[in-house]
Amino acid sequence: MAEDPQGVEQVKKRLAEVGYLADEPAALVSFLANRLGKPVLVEGPAGVGKTELAKALSRATERRLIRLQCYEGLDEAKALYEWNYRKQLLRIQTEASDTGWEQVKEDIFGEEFLLSRPLLQAIETDEPVVLLIDEIDKTDQEFEAMLLEVLSDFQISIPEMGVVEAKSRPLVLLTSNNSRELTEALKRRCLYLWLDYPDVERELEIVRLHAPELSETLARRLVEVIHEIRRLDLKKPPSIAESIDWARALLLLGAEELDQSVFEHTMSIIVKHRTDLDVVAERVGVKFSDGLLGAERQQAG
Ligand SMILES: Nc1ncnc2c1ncn2[C@@H]1O[C@H](COP(=O)(O)OP(=O)(O)O)[C@@H](O)[C@H]1O
Ligand SMILES: [Mg+2]
Repeated sequence: MAEDPQGVEQVKKRLAEVGYLADEPAALVSFLANRLGKPVLVEGPAGVGKTELAKALSRATERRLIRLQCYEGLDEAKALYEWNYRKQLLRIQTEASDTGWEQVKEDIFGEEFLLSRPLLQAIETDEPVVLLIDEIDKTDQEFEAMLLEVLSDFQISIPEMGVVEAKSRPLVLLTSNNSRELTEALKRRCLYLWLDYPDVERELEIVRLHAPELSETLARRLVEVIHEIRRLDLKKPPSIAESIDWARALLLLGAEELDQSVFEHTMSIIVKHRTDLDVVAERVGVKFSDGLLGAERQQAG
């Protein structure tokens, strides 16, 4: 287990060592979460590194990552625990017919018959872990309410068994793509981090980290074009994930520069809606032919 970081700079450094380039706010909130023992709610558009931050924190702290992927209709049985009914039934069938209910109950509501789901796993484990509750906005408000006990007291009440308290505090990250407003009660219990698209320099660093063979000139051009595209009013602007995919694709294709032809052939890697493709072709594609983007501009400048 890695030692606790001494300051924000150290957090940044450790995250970089495991492949995550955190900006100042992300490093600060990660540091505070660790020190204050509070969960972090990370919001922002898709593909800006929310999930990866949790994974990176798990690598940096050498803690196991326990992940709860949220979806519509997720319930306690899949998030907290459920009773292994089949095994309980089998047990009941093997009890002698004169066994009283009290005795049977004691038998079948013990640890042996409990199936732990991610939240309970994170609480009952001996080692401190990183708990990622991913895309919490996909669940409903009742689910959020259920989470509050876990997030504020780090404990789970099981009526048949009692309260399970955390032996060591997990580092908890919740992510949300903002598809709905989360409740105030949940927000109050969390530190808050808004992750947005990075500026050109940081995105360039991230792209180069994921596609180190790509030349710096081409990588920079790529990131500049991505930023140009994000300025348009699109249904789904390209995220860091798309920048990385694009960089890797250009490498595979052996592209040496990003000219109009390369752009037109590969833009579906970064823009994934029919209508967006039209907008981008019209607004950005023409800039290549006018020499406002790409290699021509570099020579001119
Ligand atoms: N700061 C960063 N440093 C390194 N890689 C990053 C960073 N931010 C995002 N990425 C990469 O971008 C991709 C998308 O990130 P992800 O965490 O899946 O996005 P989100 O969960 O916000 O939708 C991943 O491949 C991730 O490795
Ligand atoms: Mg994610």
